[in-house]
Formats: sequence, C-alpha cells, structure tokens
Amino acid sequence: MDLLINGRVSRLPEGSTEPSMPLLWVLRDVLHLTGTKFGCGVAACGACTVRLDGEPVRSCVTPLSAVQGRAVQTIEGLGSAVAPHALQAAWVEHQVPQCGYCQSGMLMAAAALLARNPKPTDADIDAAMTNLCRCGTYPRVRAAIHSAAQALAPSPAPPVRRLPRRIKPQPLVFKA
Ligand code: FES
Ligand code: FES
Repeated sequence: MDLLINGRVSRLPEGSTEPSMPLLWVLRDVLHLTGTKFGCGVAACGACTVRLDGEPVRSCVTPLSAVQGRAVQTIEGLGSAVAPHALQAAWVEHQVPQCGYCQSGMLMAAAALLARNPKPTDADIDAAMTNLCRCGTYPRVRAAIHSAAQALAPSPAPPVRRLPRRIKPQPLVFKA
C-alpha cells in the first residue's frame, strides 16, 4: 500500500500493516516518523494530532483504511530547522514548550487552524485547540498563534502614489 505523507508517496512494506491499524502506529513503527506522539490512545489528549487533507485528526483512532488516497501531514512535514514554519518560529520566540511532549500535536492543530482561519481570536483558538498540555502552556500557545498569524498575514498594499495634477494651459489673452 502507498501513502501520501508530507508531499511524498511512501510505500508500506508488504505485510507490515493491516487496514484497521491506527495511523499513529504506521507513522511511528513502520515509517519511523516519531515526531507524532502517543498519549492516551483514545482521542482525548491530541498528542497524536496530524493533518489529513489539511484537517486535524487524532491519528491514534484513525485507521489506515481511512487515509488511503488522502494527504497526511506530520510534524516532520511542517517545517525544518533551516526553514521553520511561522508557527515553529513563533513557538521559539514565545518559548512555548516545557516538557515538549504535547507540542507536535499542538503545532499541527494550530497549523490547521491558521489554514482555515488566518486571523483567529482568542475564542477561536480556545475552540480549535482541544489538545491537552499537562505543563499548562496554553497562554503561550495562544500568544504564539497570534504572532504566527501576524507573520503570515499578507503585507498591506503600498500606498498609491498620485501624480501631480497637470496644470491646464490657459490661453494667452492680450489686452489692448
Ligand atoms: S494519543 Fe491520540 S488523542 Fe491522545
Ligand atoms: S509541554 Fe509538557 S505536556 Fe505540553
């Protein structure tokens, strides 16, 4: 079976998976993409969040059969050390992670949020970020999402320069 992961097609070794296998198992144990974490295993904590066709999903309860032909993005595909995603840069700027365990799931949920809502309010963030963090990084997560939203916002169009008004030539009038 082939999977579209982080923009590339990955071939799963014959016999290594079965349709009911959770996507999280496939990512970590078969493809060795260990940035996605196992927390609760019952869709409660969000540590295992990845994006499926752009939407955040709990990979611990998403069977492999549900992702065939769909685009999976994991934390490994969000950005890199040399070219971090705006969210990752903001995470560093705001020193968000504490123990770090929940953070890849947080980032993937935040990326999905900004993709569908480029300027979220605090309430939007609270509603979308259902991930749990035992270290209590929620205020920093919120601040970092606002920073990333600003960084990703298109810069305003430059002001239109008006050309000076042409002075209409006046006919010369000679008085006698
Ligand atoms: S490990 Fe998937 S939601 Fe907790
Ligand atoms: S940073 Fe420790 S669980 Fe979130």
